[in-house]
Amino acid sequence: MVTLESVGFESDLSLFKYDTFEQLPESHRELDEEERSRRIEAAREALGDDVIVLGHNYQRREIVEHADFIGDSYELSKRAAESDAEYVVFAGVTFMAESADIITDDDQTVILPSMEASCPMAGMAEAVQVDSAWEDLVSGTGGKDVIPVTYMNSYADLKAFCASHGGLICTSSNAADAFEWAFERGDVVLFLPDKHLGRNTANDLGIDEVVEWDPWAGGVAEGEATSELEDAEVVLWDGYCQVHERFRVSHVEEAQEDGAQVVVHPECRPEVVAAADEVGSTSHICDVIENAEPGEHWAIGTEVHLARHLARWHPEVNVDPLCGDACMDCNAMRQIDPNYLTWVLEELADGREPNVVSVAPEEKELAEVALERMLEL
Ligand code: 13P
Ligand code: SF4
Repeated sequence: MVTLESVGFESDLSLFKYDTFEQLPESHRELDEEERSRRIEAAREALGDDVIVLGHNYQRREIVEHADFIGDSYELSKRAAESDAEYVVFAGVTFMAESADIITDDDQTVILPSMEASCPMAGMAEAVQVDSAWEDLVSGTGGKDVIPVTYMNSYADLKAFCASHGGLICTSSNAADAFEWAFERGDVVLFLPDKHLGRNTANDLGIDEVVEWDPWAGGVAEGEATSELEDAEVVLWDGYCQVHERFRVSHVEEAQEDGAQVVVHPECRPEVVAAADEVGSTSHICDVIENAEPGEHWAIGTEVHLARHLARWHPEVNVDPLCGDACMDCNAMRQIDPNYLTWVLEELADGREPNVVSVAPEEKELAEVALERMLEL
């Protein structure tokens, strides 16, 4: 089992998972798009098959245009593992780069263009914090068998924690199967870190006995419970994605009144998911638009860059962001500035390895167990 030291929450939990990042050198701060594209292509040519560039669906146009593959977080990690490239440059956020490091071979190195790209939601359930809450939480259920299930959007040490407590990982596409897997082995699911995905999954499965655990108060969040902790079937960790929390039922209704169908990500609030026409992961959202008939009108309830990509890639479909200009981009994803991409590729071409994301071996081993349990679903 991974040993976790307890921390003082105020002082020791950091905003950035990796705070030893290298700043972008002065020489790369002012490149224009034309020069940048030329230099990215030159570095890629020098590196040849030694490098693969992955672009998450939420990355900006100037990044995805240079990516070998564009997709959702887990799909991209699989692409990296299938390739023989020595260097995997992951244009995404830290937990995604960690997942890629977990599933790629030991002789592959994962590079994150900017170490500041840390998903705030993943940071809302740090393993040390969950470890500190664990005993109170289990005793609050009356000592039942609690199985921790963590969303892919979490750090490797939390994935390892879940494995060592009999739990597993899930994505937004297989959360319901992961809950069912957990209920075959225990009495209560602790779902981390996204309370909305957890609540949406409980709703899908018809589970009413749900409470939210507030790690800052060290107990059940007041006003959110539909059960007492001792009767709960699902305990939701109080984490959320601020990009998806922003959507409201009124946005869905306005789009529908305007003649659009609405597809949202399951990180949205339950009432938004209930009002939408379709719900699913970023890949599912892409499939919905790919399969739409010309002239159909769709409003996209997820990070704004994906909505813009889909509008560009499918001009035959009428695609809008769900709440127009108020639709948010993801702060963490935005840290991957194209100048950073240029810099890391040029460093690699010159034989240096900047911003390597490497999961500690004991965490990696356990996180792999949690991942394998997911793959068996
Ligand atoms: P996907 O797993 O669908 O790529 O989503 C990742 C994410 O960060 C959603 O906010
Ligand atoms: Fe994290 Fe939300 Fe950004 Fe996804 S959109 S990376 S969950 S902050």
